[in-house]
Amino acid sequence: MRKLLLQLDTSTHASVFDRVVAHDAGADAVMSYGGVTPETVRDLVHGCIFTRGPKDLNNTAIFIGGTDMAAGEALLAAVETAFFGPMRVSVMLDSNGSNTTAAAAVAKLERAAGGVRGKRAVITGGTGPVGVRAAGLLAGRGADVVMTSRRLEYAQGVARTTRERFGGSIVAVSMAGAADASETLEGAHILLNAGGAGVCMVPKAAWAGRDGLQAAADVNAVPPLGIEGVEVADNGAARDGAEVFGALGVGGLKMKIHKRCIGRLFERNDLIMDAEAIDGVARELGA
Ligand SMILES: NC(=O)c1ccc[n+]([C@@H]2O[C@H](COP(=O)([O-])OP(=O)(O)OC[C@H]3O[C@@H](n4cnc5c(N)ncnc54)[C@H](OP(=O)(O)O)[C@@H]3O)[C@@H](O)[C@H]2O)c1
Repeated sequence: MRKLLLQLDTSTHASVFDRVVAHDAGADAVMSYGGVTPETVRDLVHGCIFTRGPKDLNNTAIFIGGTDMAAGEALLAAVETAFFGPMRVSVMLDSNGSNTTAAAAVAKLERAAGGVRGKRAVITGGTGPVGVRAAGLLAGRGADVVMTSRRLEYAQGVARTTRERFGGSIVAVSMAGAADASETLEGAHILLNAGGAGVCMVPKAAWAGRDGLQAAADVNAVPPLGIEGVEVADNGAARDGAEVFGALGVGGLKMKIHKRCIGRLFERNDLIMDAEAIDGVARELGA
């Protein structure tokens, strides 16, 4: 039976990236819808659960994406509400690559730093989908997480809801721009840049040779890179006293995690693959 993936995207246009990866991960066909909201999703879900018999429902699955993490979470909740009894299919949530990229970056940083518990982990540009999920995964492992933002009040709300979801310690601090990075990195053991594409958030002088900094990762692949001095292909390079990872170094593992998760969706019909489950796949991969 053909493996069908229903791609539900909260942005206007369904992500081409997510669609290509779905095919590469083994989906025979991908049905893509953009601009999907909790109010409009029920009948799309019913199209999945009423078309194949219960024992065949593992051959249909749902992928939720889009640029807005909160919208993705709301859509996942609405999808789950549309299921009942055995009438369900497996679902993966990965708004803007949030969970898969965060799981990959955290795995790299954790290994490079020899563990994260009790360590200060600074996430620059931490309020986006990738930063939020990375904050949750790091805090869940016992790190003291600091997420930076130009919008302190907004970021404090994001930190609170992320703490409520994942537990642990997450605080928001204001960082207006790269000029503030040095001060923000005081006491940091771990640095993750999750700022927007093409924005240098951390100049080299702010991190290079900094006492105590063990590992740094930048997930921005678009020049100028997010951490000056970390090259896009770095994958555990030793630079200026820290073990560092660029966007391609993280991205290779992210792609493996993403594809493994899509494959997993078709193994049964009741999986919900959000941050924790996706992180579990990263661990299985020995990341
Ligand atoms: N390597 C990979 O495999 C991979 C996969 C997916 C995504 N990515 C990359 O990961 C990064 C994070 O993705 P995302 O979707 O979470 O990012 P995002 O939502 O576009 O941006 C994250 C945060 O960066 C801050 N920011 C944006 N533009 C800024 C600017 N000009 N100056 C200062 N701060 C700015 C914003 O925070 P405030 O407004 O709160 O300040 C924003 O919430 C992006 O660079 C993306 O391209 C990489």
